[in-house]
Amino acid sequence: MSEPTQVAIVGAGPAGLVLSHLLHLQGIESVILESRSREYVEKRIRAGLLEQRTVDLLISTGVGERLKREAMVHTGLNFQFEGERHRIPLDELTPGRNVTIYGQQEVVKDLIAARLAAGGVIHFEAAVESIQGLEGSRPVVRYRQNGTLVELEADYVAGCDGFHGVCRGAVANPKVYEKVYPFAWLGILAQVAPSCDELIYARHERGFALHTMRTPKLTRLYLQCPVEDSIEQWSDDRIWSELRTRLNIPGWSLADGPVVDKGITEMRSFVHEPMQHGRLFLAGDSAHIVPPTGAKGMNLAISDARVLAAAFIAHYKSGNQQLLERYTADCLPRVWRAQHFSWWWTTLFHRFEDEDAAFQQQLQVSQLRYMLSSRPALTSMAENYVGLERVV
Ligand code: FAD
Ligand code: DHB
Repeated sequence: MSEPTQVAIVGAGPAGLVLSHLLHLQGIESVILESRSREYVEKRIRAGLLEQRTVDLLISTGVGERLKREAMVHTGLNFQFEGERHRIPLDELTPGRNVTIYGQQEVVKDLIAARLAAGGVIHFEAAVESIQGLEGSRPVVRYRQNGTLVELEADYVAGCDGFHGVCRGAVANPKVYEKVYPFAWLGILAQVAPSCDELIYARHERGFALHTMRTPKLTRLYLQCPVEDSIEQWSDDRIWSELRTRLNIPGWSLADGPVVDKGITEMRSFVHEPMQHGRLFLAGDSAHIVPPTGAKGMNLAISDARVLAAAFIAHYKSGNQQLLERYTADCLPRVWRAQHFSWWWTTLFHRFEDEDAAFQQQLQVSQLRYMLSSRPALTSMAENYVGLERVV
């Protein structure tokens, strides 16, 4: 048995760490259980693009000092199709709002450091196996650490354990919405300065490509690839050659460098309703997944954590249960907005092999051209891309 706590948090990803941090700022105790080592979660390469409200939250709650120094603020992005690149000025379309490049693992490092400096408890290499008593008053989380089964008692449990976690399984009679895409993303991290100051989303007849970055010395690149491909089929030379083909425009070249990380990710849209059951509340990827195009996953995970923290604070500070009761209802509008944007952004840029592929390609080009010719259409895209302040 370990020391009981108020909120047991499963998972030290962005959702679990932000939740623990926000609760701590209001004097509410939590314990985080994380199956991986600290080193592993601090090195795991994933997301990199933060919406304005995510940046604002991290800075206003005191975990944005390094972000302010090191992150790269982007006031625009590029789309590319039919061999031409077009810059979209986000700052003109959504005044005062931009996007920021700062690696997910950097956000995770900053949050872990802040939690530990404040005396927070994070058990690494502590894999949760089951949760009991969610319908009673004192749930118990069972986790395994160093081969020993340990029990943690809490008032509430927050399931922030990602898409492959165990918490979602405790929600009775869920409704699941799902779409699996017939392609994957191959992502690399390369030790070379970005070849463009901003992101490039490229629609090409051979498939989608994305040029993004992590730092002034590290470029991140993605390629659409067949879902059945393995990383061994993609030598570094083949990756660079394919990236050059898909990102090419006259007068521009893609600089290459040593590949320090590479992997293939499947693409899925997924929503699990409700996001709560008894004393369990799901946040982030444990409750929903979006395809990476549009970069909404981490932002959504942090948004759930913010909604859940407010509900726990209302409960502990004033005995008000209402926010906890309507947690799912409060999260879902933003979840579905992000689902729509991510699906739309994916369908706009990827190559499909369906029977009606030729028809879809014409629709893609028509929509991209329309955006370039219509400020309202472009503004609608931009306000979703930088992140809506309010979603109803
Ligand atoms: P996770 O980060 O998955 O954290 C869950 C944690 O729970 C993990 O640390 C895991 O080890 C732990 N865990 C799991 N099971 C257990 C257990 N049984 N016991 C204890 N611990 C457990 N999102 C964006 O917003 N912007 C982007 O630019 C972006 N790009 C992406 C690019 C790629 C290639 C990929 C794959 C994803 C991208 N995402 C992006 C999505 C983003 O990375 C995720 O949405 C985000 O990690 C979700 O955070 P989370 O805290 O919900 O879950
Ligand atoms: C990144 C990933 C995305 O899916 C995206 O749309 C933008 C940026 C990134 O990893 O930097």
